[in-house]
Amino acid sequence: MAPNRYHLCSSFIFLLLPLFLQFYSGKCDLQFNYYSGSCPKAEEIIKQEVEKLYYKHGNTAVSWVRNLFHDCILKSCDASVLLETVKGIESEQKSVRSFGMRNFKYVGTIKEALEKECPSTVSCADIVSLSARDGIVMLGGPRVEMKTGRRDSQESYFSDVEKVIPNHNDSISSVLSLFQSVGIDAEGTAALLGAHSVGRVHCTNLVDRLYPTVDTTLDADYAVYLKGRCPTPNPDPKQVEYARNDRETPMILDNMYYKNILNHKGLLGIDQQLASDPRTAPYVQKMADDNDYFREQFSRAIVLLSENSPLTEEQGEIRKDCRYVNTN
Ligand code: HEM
Ligand SMILES: *[C@@H]1O[C@H](CO)[C@@H](O)[C@H](O)[C@H]1NC(C)=O
Repeated sequence: MAPNRYHLCSSFIFLLLPLFLQFYSGKCDLQFNYYSGSCPKAEEIIKQEVEKLYYKHGNTAVSWVRNLFHDCILKSCDASVLLETVKGIESEQKSVRSFGMRNFKYVGTIKEALEKECPSTVSCADIVSLSARDGIVMLGGPRVEMKTGRRDSQESYFSDVEKVIPNHNDSISSVLSLFQSVGIDAEGTAALLGAHSVGRVHCTNLVDRLYPTVDTTLDADYAVYLKGRCPTPNPDPKQVEYARNDRETPMILDNMYYKNILNHKGLLGIDQQLASDPRTAPYVQKMADDNDYFREQFSRAIVLLSENSPLTEEQGEIRKDCRYVNTN
């Protein structure tokens, strides 16, 4: 499987046993190039598939970024978000918080390519993390080094989705404490929300800033534009009515988001609060002014998010099909 890894961990622990056992045991969980022995081409295959999919459907790259957030912030980066509803499993995708999530079937495309090369070896959880990493690059964002070795959950956490994943109108305080609970500070949180520099928001997540009266924190001309995109206060959820997060560079993951929210052109309530709250406003200003600083902070925070309490070693399983737990 991964001989290097055990070698390294065990000899190190042996030398420093009494002092560092406890400390070190937690540090052997994920590692760089976890598949170097068991599936050396794994990371390359994921990258190739992400690129191919991007050239067919550019928005797949956007989906991989949102997948990472929804999977990792809820308990663990364990691909629970990919499970579909079957007997005993209620899919997290059915929650109102997952509204608009898309392209799940193309996770299957990536998984199939990996199964062909090395069956039952690469976890769906690592696909979630690495596809996000590679998607970020396709969207012009920074290249992030990521560890691997995550394993897949055998359950979904449907009933926790609404409790954990923030709503569009939640307070910045609750969002800051959520991220703090997984070790991400206000600066990192401000950077992660920069993901809203790509993709779209459906009218159902927008209309309460437009009707019955326009939110005073929203630019008046922009509100007119958004009302054009969302002409009624009660959008039919089956109707695909949405606005792009970033009108100027909708498919580029850059600091335009921060310029927009400083100009009161944030789409979600949470986006606008990020610009005005004294705990995050200084970072917003700095990110708007300096794309390299944004990229640095975004990279740091994405790694932290992708390492949120993974299942490792004997925990969980390696799913054969990312949509279902293994049957045996
Ligand atoms: C913390 C508070 C957050 C809230 C309340 C929130 C909420 C939302 C909402 C309501 C949408 C629009 C869904 C729709 O109507 O289709 C959305 C889209 C999106 N979110 Fe977030 N989000 C948050 C954080 C994040 C983070 C941390 C990331 C990634 C690092 C992220 C990535 C995305 C992406 C990429 C989209 C666009 C998806 C697409 O176009 O398919 N979000 N988010
Ligand atoms: C947030 O928006 C939802 C609809 O998307 C609404 O049901 C809820 O009452 C709103 N919450 C607050 C605190 O305004």
